[in-house]
Amino acid sequence: MNARCNLLSLSSHVPSQVLTNDDLAKIVDTSDEWITTRTGIKERRRVAPMENASDLGYKAAVKALAESGLSVCDLTHIITATGTPDTLCPSVSCIIAGKLEAGHVMAFDFSAACSGYLYGLSICRSILCQNPEAKILFICAEALTRRSDWSDRSTCVLFGDGAGACVLSAGEEAPVAQLEDCICKSDGSLSHLITVGGGTACQYKMGDPVDSNFFIHMQGREVYRHAVRQMAAICEEILEKNGLTIADVDLLVPHQANLRIIEAVGSRLDIATEKVFTNVARYGNTSSASVPLALAEARETGRIQPGMRVLMTAFGGGLTFGATLLRF
Ligand code: UT7
Repeated sequence: MNARCNLLSLSSHVPSQVLTNDDLAKIVDTSDEWITTRTGIKERRRVAPMENASDLGYKAAVKALAESGLSVCDLTHIITATGTPDTLCPSVSCIIAGKLEAGHVMAFDFSAACSGYLYGLSICRSILCQNPEAKILFICAEALTRRSDWSDRSTCVLFGDGAGACVLSAGEEAPVAQLEDCICKSDGSLSHLITVGGGTACQYKMGDPVDSNFFIHMQGREVYRHAVRQMAAICEEILEKNGLTIADVDLLVPHQANLRIIEAVGSRLDIATEKVFTNVARYGNTSSASVPLALAEARETGRIQPGMRVLMTAFGGGLTFGATLLRF
């Protein structure tokens, strides 16, 4: 696959409400000390009552479009990665297309849980390869706190809400970054390790209360083990495939689920701590939005400079996992 896949912009947006560990300790039997030492998370953001994933995605999309220098009528595709769409139908992408007045643009959502950003970049690369004239607005938008079980301390402390967006093209526009390569994989035999209900498998009748399957369930210990192993392995695979070593990577931007997982992956890859970007302390696990939130922040704060090679990796429900190389 040799078509160019250029990111013309990078943006993010988080809701304004902050939930600290102390706030959570008033809701469930937990403590700032437990959450900080086990996860590295200090606070996370939460959508307001009338705010949905599409609202977060829309705000990130407006910023991404502005930076790209393209106008909405240039867009051919709007694609959103989300595991927490406002509704099963319409898609978040169609809602955002409507708000942007994007006309008859092709618009659809897909779900790859926390690996959504990497899966989406891979999808965009394929589209651009097939149609080099395409201009794609790609969004990751999540309202995970809407599916948090606030009586389950083992999961509700982990998740937060947020969105990221970018505009992609194969054209001559000056890119912020170029996609060098991506590998995306899954292991459906472990699909039971992370589940979120609310789909049609549950045959609700009018008036039925939701049951516990409606909320996020995770076998944390097991997921932890697979996350470390698979993210490290897929990073090694993409480096080897491209004739690179970890020394060729200027910054690792991993999925922000747990600081201990990030440190374990960094240590397996033998990359210096200062070359690993983390912001999990302030946002928790925002699923598909986590990598673009981290990437946008790394660029805004000067951790990413032009010329740098960035390795991203993610892991999540499905199970899904991936690695992507970007050259800024
Ligand atoms: O984005 C998708 C990928 N997701 C992940 O990568 C998450 C992977 N998993 C993890 O990050 C970790 O497994 C957790 C943070 C979820 C849990 O950490 P852990 O060190 O694996 O703890 P644990 O589940 O083994 O629980 C240890 C103890 C238990 O008590 P007992 O049975 O030892 O008495 C839990 O009940 O900690 C207890 N516990 C808590 N205590 C205080 C669980 N959650 C909490 C809590 N506050 N919030």
